[in-house]
Amino acid sequence: MIQLSLIGIGTGNPEHVTLAAVRALNDAELILLPRKGDGKSDLVDLRRLLCRDLLEASSRTRVVEFDLPQRDGRADYLGAVDDWHEAIAGVWAALMATHLPEGGRVGMLIWGDPSLYDSSLRIAGRLRDAGQALEIRVEPGITSLQVLTAEHRIPLNALAEPVQITTGRRLRERGWPDDAASVAVMLDSGGAFASLPPEGLYIWWGAYLGMDKQRLIDGWLEDVAASIIEQRAALRERHGWIMDVYLLRRM
Ligand SMILES: C[S@@+](CC[C@H](N)C(=O)[O-])C[C@H]1O[C@@H](n2cnc3c(N)ncnc32)[C@H](O)[C@@H]1O
Repeated sequence: MIQLSLIGIGTGNPEHVTLAAVRALNDAELILLPRKGDGKSDLVDLRRLLCRDLLEASSRTRVVEFDLPQRDGRADYLGAVDDWHEAIAGVWAALMATHLPEGGRVGMLIWGDPSLYDSSLRIAGRLRDAGQALEIRVEPGITSLQVLTAEHRIPLNALAEPVQITTGRRLRERGWPDDAASVAVMLDSGGAFASLPPEGLYIWWGAYLGMDKQRLIDGWLEDVAASIIEQRAALRERHGWIMDVYLLRRM
């Protein structure tokens, strides 16, 4: 039996790692650490740093790095993601069989929290469906949305109103969702908000949240949209990668 702990580690600030996450890391016999090969080496380094700093000298945890399979960029997005998840599940299974042939405790460091736009729970589910004896545990982590609202000192929702969490791709394709007073946007390849009529929309934007290079901008969309797009491009150029998230609200 493999006990797999998906351990939320927050989004870049080591002080956001919970005590429960530290305990789960130290309890694991094996930590699997993906190398993403997408220019975001800072993020792999951060995971390595967390392992180095948080694993106690007495812990018997082994850290094994592996190359994450790449998703192919074909037009059938959901089909490509499905194949990609299958490939990742295969790599996880092979690593577990090699390093823990008798079973044991495996930990994986999950960016933010495993519940939010992260597929590790779905991939673990595939392994179980394929017959792997697997007990799945989750240690919750602080999400990028929580850091965004904390840094801007705002509530996520307007009083008694709903919030929709969506992706940049979906916002571009479908526009403002019916009945949403606020929309949180993740995984935007850049400036999906510019596809909306800006009147009456306020935006709170954040990049590299929780990290030393964190950037924040807020204002009426019509006033700040161009400067967010400009800053985003410049930051991406400077650091080689960017992750940003934003909240839009009708006011
Ligand atoms: C694959 S999702 C993972 C989300 C993560 N599970 C969480 O709890 O926040 C990646 C997206 O989360 C957002 N994100 C994650 N970390 C971030 C950070 N440090 N700063 C800004 N946005 C971040 C970005 O929208 C990015 O495209």
